[in-house]
Amino acid sequence: MTVVRVKGEDMIAVKDASSELKAYFESLSRSKGRDITYTVRTYGCQLNESDSEKLEGMLISFGLKKCEDSIPDLVILNTCSVRENAEDRLFGNLGEFKAAMREDSDRLLIVCGCMMKVKENVDRIKKSFPYVDLVFDPQNLHRFPVLLLQKIKRHKQLTDISIDDYIADDTLLDIRRQRKFRALVPIMYGCNNFCTYCIVPYTRGRERSRDYELIMKDLKDLSDAGYKEIMLLGQNVNSYTAYDKPYFPQLLRDAAEKFDFKRIRFMSSHPKDISDEVIDIMASHDNIEKHLHLPLQSGSDRILKAMNRPYTKEKFLKTAMRFREMISDGSLSTDIIVGFPGETEEDFLETLDVVKKVGFDSAFTFQYSPRPGTVAAKMEGRLSPEVMRDRFSRLLEIQNDLAYRSNQAKVGKTEDVLIEGESSGDSNVLTGRTSSFHLINFTIPDELKIEGYSSNDYEGMMCRVRFTEARPYSVDGIMESFI
Ligand code: SAH
Ligand code: SF4
Ligand code: F3S
Repeated sequence: MTVVRVKGEDMIAVKDASSELKAYFESLSRSKGRDITYTVRTYGCQLNESDSEKLEGMLISFGLKKCEDSIPDLVILNTCSVRENAEDRLFGNLGEFKAAMREDSDRLLIVCGCMMKVKENVDRIKKSFPYVDLVFDPQNLHRFPVLLLQKIKRHKQLTDISIDDYIADDTLLDIRRQRKFRALVPIMYGCNNFCTYCIVPYTRGRERSRDYELIMKDLKDLSDAGYKEIMLLGQNVNSYTAYDKPYFPQLLRDAAEKFDFKRIRFMSSHPKDISDEVIDIMASHDNIEKHLHLPLQSGSDRILKAMNRPYTKEKFLKTAMRFREMISDGSLSTDIIVGFPGETEEDFLETLDVVKKVGFDSAFTFQYSPRPGTVAAKMEGRLSPEVMRDRFSRLLEIQNDLAYRSNQAKVGKTEDVLIEGESSGDSNVLTGRTSSFHLINFTIPDELKIEGYSSNDYEGMMCRVRFTEARPYSVDGIMESFI
């Protein structure tokens, strides 16, 4: 595995640039007589979100304040390329900043993330969106201070797309976590699987695992800081290696045994790589969530082969059944693509068959979206939008029913819930998750309410909740006690 570590002198440049930026924004704040504000919009997956948290940490260290309402002085759009509609969203949103950028020449508009690894997107920004100040890609994230400073000094649009797959662990400043109880912890970057439909290996580069000891240090710091939940992240966590050995089971066990976390989550697991050992470790550690995300993509062996997903329907079913056997109160979620080129009705029925046999507790379902540059984009046998929509809605109908049934099975039980905060739309209702990742909306009886607490003050606390009623996407309940 080739990993390009950031050189010492580059790190010094990052630190120097950060100090200069701090001075620049301080003086801008004095001349404007107010705080300088920022916003970061995240378009993609949890890795994208984790990158946004790092960028926010850097901005805060330059003295910027998060913008709550007015137009911010600095905007970062952290893009995603995984499907066409994610890309369309960016180009739709860019226009909305045009007037604001003209109005104040000190304002900065920055575009980064996976879309910026696709040349056509960068070219389109250069051509049609001259008011974008800076463009860079995910592998360049650690160099953001250097690039931002360069841009501010030279007053012209700056695009900087890297060619190496860096691993830049030790250059990062404080991370601004979105939730006070949950920490996203990338354990590896990139992907070597090259599923034929997927753009990620092109945007995120080759697989590279973070240093084991550095991850352990992160976990210790997070545990000391009182984080209740960690999420170990990678495109395929099972190919995490350290000292050139497959190491994910060891990492998961150490995370569960050496620290004080209430919930350890991990994403994603490739069905070709997940081992029985991982499922055994999940079953024997209460603080590892009883939830496995296992992306199926298709139930047809023929389509799986065309997707370059080297497992069969039978192997997938075997893994899913083993999980159900070992963790009977656990939940399984998945990703499914309908309408891959050449998918026949029979292939689609194989997918439905797996969905019914496994009874996924939840699923992310997608219509195939051709990604330029991938192998599948050149394949024959594209489906018509009508067939695609028809299969998609048939799948959704079955899956919605399964999700509802999974919620119904909770009714009458009492389980531990990690409180995430106020339920949207109702300040008397709290929301949280079970270990099986079921979404729970619940009330607190008056005698359990903590004086002076608003709903969001309960965020990060653990409690016992009795489940009373199932809804399509959540379960209602009543809190019984704090734990
Ligand atoms: N590494 C993760 C997936 C990351 S992308 C994994 O392998 O599980 C998240 C999901 O987006 C994929 O699982 C897939 O279902 C979907 N996806 C990826 N490329 C797609 C495409 N071209 N069209 C439709 N869905 C796609
Ligand atoms: Fe994409 Fe496949 Fe890698 Fe997941 S494993 S990121 S779907 S190439
Ligand atoms: Fe999107 Fe990049 Fe994640 S393409 S799904 S943001 S790895």
